[in-house]
Amino acid sequence: MGTPVIAGLGELFKTHRLSKKTVVLFDEHTRRLFGDELLRKLNDEGFHWTELVIPAREASKSFSVAYRLYGKMIEADVDRSWNLLAMGGGVVGDLGGFIAASYFRGIPVIQLPTTLLAMTDSSIGGKVAINHPLGKNLIGFFHSPELVLIDTSYLTTLPRREIYAGMAEVVKYGFIADEPFFSFLDLHFADIIELKEPYITEAVKKSAFIKDEVVKKDFRETAGLRATLNFGHTFAHGLEKLAEYRHLRHGEAVTIGMFCALLLSHNLGYLDRESLDRGLSLLRKFRFPKGLLKRRFLDIDSGLLLESMFSDKKKLDKKLRFVLLKKLGEAFLLEENIEDRHVLKAISDGQALFSSKSSR
Ligand SMILES: NC(=O)c1ccc[n+]([C@@H]2O[C@H](COP(=O)([O-])OP(=O)(O)OC[C@H]3O[C@@H](n4cnc5c(N)ncnc54)[C@H](O)[C@@H]3O)[C@@H](O)[C@H]2O)c1
Ligand SMILES: [Zn+2]
Repeated sequence: MGTPVIAGLGELFKTHRLSKKTVVLFDEHTRRLFGDELLRKLNDEGFHWTELVIPAREASKSFSVAYRLYGKMIEADVDRSWNLLAMGGGVVGDLGGFIAASYFRGIPVIQLPTTLLAMTDSSIGGKVAINHPLGKNLIGFFHSPELVLIDTSYLTTLPRREIYAGMAEVVKYGFIADEPFFSFLDLHFADIIELKEPYITEAVKKSAFIKDEVVKKDFRETAGLRATLNFGHTFAHGLEKLAEYRHLRHGEAVTIGMFCALLLSHNLGYLDRESLDRGLSLLRKFRFPKGLLKRRFLDIDSGLLLESMFSDKKKLDKKLRFVLLKKLGEAFLLEENIEDRHVLKAISDGQALFSSKSSR
């Protein structure tokens, strides 16, 4: 396939004063699908490169994998004059960013995201991390990418389940920041899932733009604004933990989490009925692998989920932090503590309403 984003790579690196000495990081899938083409391109453009390949799984975001890769880089004589190009989903992007931030006290990172989630969320904003056995994304840096190269044509090989997972974050931006975008996503949901143009490009562009705007205003998440990107995530992290970070994609948990967060916003009197219904109706368009929703949400005891939410790293003094909606397109971080019963009700209302029709 002809990919426009890597067509002028040499020129692009020159414009951004990046050296042509590049460590290229893939996972085994992106290596197989896109590696030969990219490396050929780097040869054509006179790059000096070395490649690293990791297993395609969340567990690759670990200290032991990072340690192994540092060793390979040292053996390949990689020094501070090099940079690192991460080609893949959020796992490759986060691990690649982590290695770039730490190797030789930091080398530039270039993100080349190939999943919908990475294009619209993880590659943007400079949060890079690995996991610790005691929790996800606990060890990391703020290390902004020098470049993020987004090309939606890479999505054609992405499994449908991953498209839905990425779409959760896309829809999130409509909810928290942009009502017209929300309406666009509602209207063209199927077109976007089918990767139809111009809808998919518009959805990716707008999402990347919103994320970038939010991050620019609150880079270190101190003003409460960047935290709104966690809409639905307090519930989601609890669900992911219960699913041992293996049986539920992050985006699937976020879809369910946003369902509960909408209900919580309404139950606490912040969001009106009509907006709630519009929000829930959009979220009902998401599809899950057969039986997954039942096993990972509908059958789960609400008390157990609440307990699991409390163990999330974003808790502050045992207080859960919730992002709620005032209206479609406007979110805020709730400062005050809310009683457990409200959270439990949002979960059980969600279970009653998120119909099993959503299974396929
Ligand atoms: N840094 C951040 O701000 C941030 C934000 C959100 C999520 N994340 C992290 O992102 C990770 C999840 O990222 P993800 O959802 O992209 O998962 P992922 O990187 O695991 O990719 C999902 C699967 O798709 C495959 N794949 C990638 N591109 C493909 C393509 N074009 N065609 C076919 N298959 C392809 C991958 O090999 C993998 O098997 C998590 O670790 C999460 O913590 C980070
Ligand atoms: Zn997320």
